[in-house]
Amino acid sequence: MLLRGLCVAPLMLSGAYTAQITTTTRESINGIGASGAWWVNDVALFPAEVRQNISELLLNQNSGVGMTDYRYNLGDSGVGVGTWDRAPETPYISDDVYNWSADAADTFFLKEAACHGIPIITLFVNSAPTAMTNNSENCGGTLITERILAYVQYLADVISYWKTQGVDIAHVSSMKQPDNNFDDGDPTTLCAQEGMQFVPEQRAELVMTLAAILKAAVRTST
Ligand SMILES: *[C@@H]1O[C@H](CO)[C@@H](O)[C@H](O)[C@H]1NC(C)=O
Ligand SMILES: *[C@@H]1O[C@H](CO)[C@@H](O)[C@H](O)[C@H]1NC(C)=O
Ligand SMILES: *[C@@H]1O[C@H](CO)[C@@H](O)[C@H](O)[C@H]1NC(C)=O
Repeated sequence: MLLRGLCVAPLMLSGAYTAQITTTTRESINGIGASGAWWVNDVALFPAEVRQNISELLLNQNSGVGMTDYRYNLGDSGVGVGTWDRAPETPYISDDVYNWSADAADTFFLKEAACHGIPIITLFVNSAPTAMTNNSENCGGTLITERILAYVQYLADVISYWKTQGVDIAHVSSMKQPDNNFDDGDPTTLCAQEGMQFVPEQRAELVMTLAAILKAAVRTST
């Protein structure tokens, strides 16, 4: 009852807080961008012209918002996921065998980001392919430790392929939300999106193996 009156106008405590505006750099922001999860799948349902216009509005450096960052969601086929637009296709068929035509919804905006000259393109992954998770699904599981090398080789192969297509991927987010496998705890329902756990003991090995494989890939391509 007493609180009701306070909702009408903010309570002013004069002099209680002060703001200081300074020209000293506190934090540097390198760019502003967007992640290709999960709207690219919805946008793919629209006519091609609409999708192209959305790309121009977001990515065109002159006439559009001119985003400086784009995050490409490398899909993993959404096994175990019940939300259709959070279950992207994957280029992975088996180790070293890929289908580069897969996941047109995600790769459309990846290619658009490159041709608009977006400075920072990041590849991120929600789950490894089912052949590398301990529950053979794209959510609710954990990366199989013995498959760390196969997983990072897959990431490096995807990055190398896109380089041959003129798409330079600057950053890799190989462990997105490593504590959350997106299992809702109910065995009778599907997950809301892809996700995979990395247990703490796997993380250093993953990062070091990925660094070694990427360095080797750079040496091979130059
Ligand atoms: C796409 O953008 C062009 C140029 O601004 C405009 O003429 C056209 O009507 C747009 N198309 C749609 C479907 O919105
Ligand atoms: C590759 O992906 C495309 C798009 O989903 C699909 O039509 C085609 O059948 C796939 N090819 C193979 C060999 O899996
Ligand atoms: C997968 O590994 C995690 C972490 O070790 C474990 O908790 C979970 O029970 C495993 N799942 C299966 C299906 O083996």
